[in-house]
Amino acid sequence: MTDSRFGLDGWEGARYGRTMSRIQILSKEVANLIAAGEVVERPVSVVKELVENALDAGATSVTVDLQDGGTTRIQVSDNGCGMTADELALCVLPHATSKIGSADDLARIMTFGFRGEALPSIAAVSHVLITSKTPTSDSAACIRVDAGKMGAVEPCSAPDGTLILVEHLFQNVPARQKFLKSERTEYGHIFDLIQRVALANPQTRFVLRHQGKETLRANVTTELRGRVAELFSVNAAEQLLPFSEDSGGVRISGFAGRPILAKAGSPQTYLTVNGRVVKDRLLMHAVGEAYRTFLPRELYPFCVVQLELDPSLVDVNVHPAKAEVRFVQPQAMHQLVVHTLRAALQQASSDAMTLGNSTASASPVASYGNDSLTGPASPAGSWPDLRPPASSGETPLFNTEDMPALRPIGALARTYLLYEDPNGSLIAIDQHAAHERLGYLKLKERFAAADLQVQRLLIPAVVELSPRDHAMALESIELLGRCGMEVNDFGGNSVVIKSVPALLANTDPVTLLKRLLEDLAQSGTTTSMDVAIDHVLMTMACHRMVRAGDYLSGEEIVALADEVMATPTADRCPHGRPTWVRIPKSEIEKWFYRK
Ligand SMILES: Nc1ncnc2c1ncn2[C@@H]1O[C@H](COP(=O)(O)OP(=O)(O)O)[C@@H](O)[C@H]1O
Ligand SMILES: [Mg+2]
Repeated sequence: MTDSRFGLDGWEGARYGRTMSRIQILSKEVANLIAAGEVVERPVSVVKELVENALDAGATSVTVDLQDGGTTRIQVSDNGCGMTADELALCVLPHATSKIGSADDLARIMTFGFRGEALPSIAAVSHVLITSKTPTSDSAACIRVDAGKMGAVEPCSAPDGTLILVEHLFQNVPARQKFLKSERTEYGHIFDLIQRVALANPQTRFVLRHQGKETLRANVTTELRGRVAELFSVNAAEQLLPFSEDSGGVRISGFAGRPILAKAGSPQTYLTVNGRVVKDRLLMHAVGEAYRTFLPRELYPFCVVQLELDPSLVDVNVHPAKAEVRFVQPQAMHQLVVHTLRAALQQASSDAMTLGNSTASASPVASYGNDSLTGPASPAGSWPDLRPPASSGETPLFNTEDMPALRPIGALARTYLLYEDPNGSLIAIDQHAAHERLGYLKLKERFAAADLQVQRLLIPAVVELSPRDHAMALESIELLGRCGMEVNDFGGNSVVIKSVPALLANTDPVTLLKRLLEDLAQSGTTTSMDVAIDHVLMTMACHRMVRAGDYLSGEEIVALADEVMATPTADRCPHGRPTWVRIPKSEIEKWFYRK
């Protein structure tokens, strides 16, 4: 069949022709169900919308009560402005909102809601009962909506504020119900959300209950610091580094957790933009970048970052759930976050502590935090005689005149080398971290001096890669080449490795390349060439070096200590682990009540 009117022929014409003659406006119910799919993905989406409505209503107290991870019942109550009986009848209709009136208002949004979609969407996929009272009305009113079917507004009795009860979520959308995870998982998402919202709104009291038991409480406070301490049970004074900065009309503030708070598992970065909880990729990346040399890569830092900027400089209307935002100047925001956090971390390191002084006694690590890539290293006070970094390719040898002599004691767990310094303090060196750090410094130094010697492989190594890694390898040919690794395309998804840096002559080039590609995939495309080169050199260093558990000879033990101590920037490995710690004699004396 051909439909020449539309310039279509063959099967295409048939397809379009058929559809066109049947265009119809979707019924309100179906349209609401489709819209609901975008807003209400799972129980946490319902909680988010209801809690945001409560905050928009000016509530100073919000209580969330859940049954079975929110899958059977979600109840959110607030003491906000409430709704009149007339407003109750309106609030569940699509595009009914009290928050914006015209398109112009969209550019100046200061409320969480503005789309007028949440309540009708939730009501389309569950059974909802809304009870509300404004301070000026004599009595409360309520309305029921069951799977999109609206009941009448009726009078009832209730205190000022609003209570919304959501039951039987997705009962009428079996496909969606199937995708729900376990009740524990759904509850976990809600708990995380309430923590985040509570951080963004310290002036509001939040209570979360699950199966009738209170699981989170955040009391009203004027200070973010207090709320962080209460929510996460951290010792704020010791473990949080405050920062606050105004730059180009943007205010950034919050707390950088000391590296001791870092954990494996899932990110602990809490971001808000104009009070809105977001999980923006760009900002998350910036936080990771700021901590890069302060933390091992597998650990996530604890960090609260709050940004305030003119609403016209950020679009929150990118997605119905509003978890993502779009900045007018994304690169500048990225840089601001990196610089501010780094400054906080570096500042902390210049006040660096040694194990045993009063504030650090809870910390297992002596001196974290100074960024040895950009600043001077200083486990301040603990090592006064450190010499400046070597400028030649060779790390200076031990010099008894200006370096304290370390007496080797032995190796602990075949991982930590123990020494005594002239003051009777104990020095422990992590052999792997130290060796890695020294290797990295050598690579970097030679790279900077354009003296990175390469070792051509006798038999070039052909590697079969995944399509993603293959594409990444081709994209990175120049970068890898500059770091001494010559890689060429070998057809299909294969590449061939022709050379490696001479310092790495003994490593397996194939594992090295795969590890590098994985790294590059993770660091993304936002990084500059310099940063990418740095990543590559770090990964290379990690490959070359002595592992924990490797046995070192007595001479090697002495030589390693000499090298570490003679290289001021060697106090942390490239991934941020400390390479050595010092336990002062006075601390050891305390253990035995000698002081
Ligand atoms: N907890 C509440 N307290 C007072 N008013 C509310 C509350 N929840 C919803 N409303 C009213 O219902 C309207 C519709 O809510 P919603 O569907 O979430 O859309 P939006 O928040 O985008 O305006 C809101 O604009 C507000 O006027
Ligand atoms: Mg809303």
